[in-house]
Amino acid sequence: MIERGVRPQHLTLVEYSQEFVERLKGRFPGARVLSMDAARLQDLKFPPETSVGAVVSGLPLLTMPVGKVMEILEGPFRHLRPGGAFYQFTYMSKCPVPQSVLDHLDLNATQVDRTFRNLPPAAVAVCAQSGLKPITIESGPSNGSTRVATKPASRIQAWQSPPV
Ligand SMILES: C[S@@+](CC[C@H](N)C(=O)[O-])C[C@H]1O[C@@H](n2cnc3c(N)ncnc32)[C@H](O)[C@@H]1O
Repeated sequence: MIERGVRPQHLTLVEYSQEFVERLKGRFPGARVLSMDAARLQDLKFPPETSVGAVVSGLPLLTMPVGKVMEILEGPFRHLRPGGAFYQFTYMSKCPVPQSVLDHLDLNATQVDRTFRNLPPAAVAVCAQSGLKPITIESGPSNGSTRVATKPASRIQAWQSPPV
């Protein structure tokens, strides 16, 4: 990101391991480096004029319980400006964010890139607010009526790799 022009003072780096935190501080002296659980991102404070555009994560979401993934995704979307997104690296072929988390937070996930020049091959998922109405298929308990609202069958869109 820095090579692409992002200024270090515009980066907040979050890491659990104190040892890694020290390495990040040494390598990126201009960045804000925080030693914390990424599930607590909702507690982060930013100066009032700050506008957060993206969260980039290399967290092992697929090894975490769904509740933890929910917290990790929920926090950033309290800070992200409209149109902001959560980018997640993954080494698996499936979406790294469970459908239930996407549904709960009203997000869509899309695979935006994949490289075979990494071992293992890596992909990038982007999660962004969908603006779509959630589906509900409800049977009214009193009169037996059914109400159907529309939603795509899956919030995991364009996840399959394009043919090479
Ligand atoms: C696969 S490594 C990714 C390293 C580096 N961030 C990258 O993207 O190349 C995962 C890192 O996430 C950190 N980590 C795991 N769970 C975390 C959490 N709940 N909060 C903050 N960091 C966490 C680990 O300490 C580890 O350094």
